[in-house]
Amino acid sequence: MLRRREILAALGALPLLNARARAVLEALAGDDRGPSEFARDEEIWRFVQEAFPVDRSMINFNNGGVCPSPRSAQEALARQTAFANEAPAYKLWRILEPQRENVREGLARTFGVDSEEVAITRNASEGLQNLQMGFDLEAGDEVLCTDQDYPRMINAFLQRSAREGIRLVRFPIPTPLEDPAEVVRRYAERITDRTRLILVCQVINLTGSILPVREICRLGRERGIPVIVDGAHGFAHLPVQRDELDCDFYATSLHKWLFAPVGTGMLYVRRERIGEVWSLMASNPGQEEDIRKFEQIGTHPCPLVLSIGAALAFHAQLGPERKFARMVYLRDRWARRFAGRDRIRLSTSLEPGRAGGIATVGIEGIDSRALSAHLWAKHRIYTTTIRHRGTDEEGRPLEDSAPYQIDGMRVSPAPYATLDEVDRFSEALEEVLQHGLPS
Ligand SMILES: Cc1ncc(COP(=O)(O)O)c(C=O)c1O
Repeated sequence: MLRRREILAALGALPLLNARARAVLEALAGDDRGPSEFARDEEIWRFVQEAFPVDRSMINFNNGGVCPSPRSAQEALARQTAFANEAPAYKLWRILEPQRENVREGLARTFGVDSEEVAITRNASEGLQNLQMGFDLEAGDEVLCTDQDYPRMINAFLQRSAREGIRLVRFPIPTPLEDPAEVVRRYAERITDRTRLILVCQVINLTGSILPVREICRLGRERGIPVIVDGAHGFAHLPVQRDELDCDFYATSLHKWLFAPVGTGMLYVRRERIGEVWSLMASNPGQEEDIRKFEQIGTHPCPLVLSIGAALAFHAQLGPERKFARMVYLRDRWARRFAGRDRIRLSTSLEPGRAGGIATVGIEGIDSRALSAHLWAKHRIYTTTIRHRGTDEEGRPLEDSAPYQIDGMRVSPAPYATLDEVDRFSEALEEVLQHGLPS
């Protein structure tokens, strides 16, 4: 456990402290409290807030879309970009590119895997599509996922369906998700002797719900079916590593909850399974078993890759458990105020382990798009509207006239949010709940 003073030093905050604050922190240097107590320590979080040079003239509660980077990662990117530009062919390829291996090592340590199992990609989409397109499938083969998987990932399978005749089997899952075992049951009952691939989302983008990835990976393994894990919202949000998920194929974005600059992602493939997957872009002969085959994308901005190192350092210094605890603390601060109240529609379970910092809320009788628009227009609070109409039990997309299964506003504050911002959001929502939208 890092001590308080070390954390502040690592976050670059010590130089900002006055002598009195420094003395207080030094007196507390023996602090070894658990994550949930730490989550309530506003003095620590004040410095995290300052580490992000964000626009405080608005309240950005759509970090689920993409997160800002702390100053240290932004500076690393700017520094490396300027350096590369001095003589790109030489500095990019001879000096910067080899440093990519250190970033690979850092990502591997964070996910608890071997660095020979980690490819650095541009986002989760790239990692996932390498996997989704990379398995040989034949006409009539079945691929299984829920109707709450991310649209781009569903579209990837629909394209294979149109092109190669594979069959995409989709099914709805309960919302809010109170019983993860029900999701496992639903996957299990749709597996047939033609099922060749399973996609499972670690954290559903629509609601923040956490799916039982470990159990679904076990299900796939028992039946010899590869399971692709969409970890776009899981990595560096939930404090879990590969062994807890027990997965073989996992992809994530790093510009979400790791706070790395935009355009960064990670693909993990268990070493002995690398050879099973074709890379999306052709790689060099001899690279079949090499994780780097997924990185053969041509000339690319290497400074972006290297800036992941600064984001990894920030994440490690903050501590995955403490970061997660703070995110849940921020979510609970607003969501528990509304949970169970008349007309409040919470699409996210607040039970421990069911979700992290993301939750989706709507109000009966209030149009969700108008609600988000009102919060923005009147309070400069930025959220995103979620309206989801999935499939029926047989996987047929529901008609446009069917009611939405999820209808609300996704609220995703990041650890740099202040309590005051969370409270301003709650007050704005309360006002609409009590008085409706202004006409
Ligand atoms: C669940 C899920 N999967 C995949 C993606 C794709 O991420 P990216 O756009 O960073 O590739 C997202 C993006 O929001 C997502 O929420």
